[in-house]
Amino acid sequence: MKKGANMRIGILTGGGDAPGLNGVIRAVVRTSSIRYGWKVIGIFDGFEGLMGKTNTKELTPWNTRGILFRGGTILGTTNRGNPFAATVASKGKISEKDLSDSVVRNIKRLRLEALIVIGGDGSLNIANRFFNKGIKVIGVPKTIDNDLSATYVTFGFKTAVETATDALDKLHTTAESHHRVIVVEVMGRYAGWIALEAGIAGSADVILIPEIPYDMKQVCDKILERKKSDCKSSIVVVAEGARPIGGEMAVIEKDASGYALRLGGVGNAVAEGIRRSTGMDVRVTVLGHIQRGGSPCASDRILATRYGVKAVELIAEEKFGHMVSYQPPAVTSVPLEKAIQKMKLVAPDSELVAAAESVGVCFGR
Ligand code: F6P
Repeated sequence: MKKGANMRIGILTGGGDAPGLNGVIRAVVRTSSIRYGWKVIGIFDGFEGLMGKTNTKELTPWNTRGILFRGGTILGTTNRGNPFAATVASKGKISEKDLSDSVVRNIKRLRLEALIVIGGDGSLNIANRFFNKGIKVIGVPKTIDNDLSATYVTFGFKTAVETATDALDKLHTTAESHHRVIVVEVMGRYAGWIALEAGIAGSADVILIPEIPYDMKQVCDKILERKKSDCKSSIVVVAEGARPIGGEMAVIEKDASGYALRLGGVGNAVAEGIRRSTGMDVRVTVLGHIQRGGSPCASDRILATRYGVKAVELIAEEKFGHMVSYQPPAVTSVPLEKAIQKMKLVAPDSELVAAAESVGVCFGR
């Protein structure tokens, strides 16, 4: 391992943003500088900043000050820049091209001894492919969906749960005043962690998640039971990836291979079903990217800091091809190859789901 300022490491953020990304960047820069005297080069807009003409900037403790509490990422990000299948336009035609070799050349030209990739399953997959091409990669897990199995929790998740819970608290009072049903669509593509935790914390009456396909009749029975009682209003939390039994996820946009690029619409579909069967006044609130933005909560700032410190330590230990992982109480690491194999989904028979059902929450089953 090179010593002092001769050692240059690159850092990028890929995929959807999450509160806490800046905390990781800040911790990487400070640990590199304070403990090792290394230089950190920030790469803009994920792997796009390494494709073709590079887009980078040296990061110092000075120019990364005051960012711990800021949402988003000072480096920018994209969830469409895969160098192994890059979209290129030539003579008016759009096609896919493997630009990974040019990325490897750029990493060498920038004299980056190691590369820290902060990302979700997509970006970590790309990171692992670069590791297999000889790049000294370290992964840092990130996703508000909390769906990575190799780490106990990802930063951004708790902030998203706080945001969604706060929205539910507010929606309860207006739903009650108008004796309405309010359907709240939250993020959660394959995993319903945000819906489940915010639903429990925000005392939702119905929680619909991708892992438990729902039966509209069960949902409507629950709402009608409440309608007969003193409190006529109901709050339904639905994860964007939830689907009815025998039905499909609500997809807005797919790519050429059929992968769902954008989800949306399940909240409206559920609302329509409730309206039809119960005759009640129903409204829909889609929280969308509000859950991804804003200031990270205190525990996400701490987790992000610990992840950033560990990423630099892994470089010092030359543990390349590894991803930082939180296994309470320790922050440790797992091979990237293993980390990207399995998603962390809500188990329909878990204690958390059972606890919610015990206090009367309906999962549409
Ligand atoms: O991966 C996190 C996530 O929040 C998913 O729940 C959601 O489907 C996706 O990001 C939306 O990302 P974007 O709007 O940036 O494409």
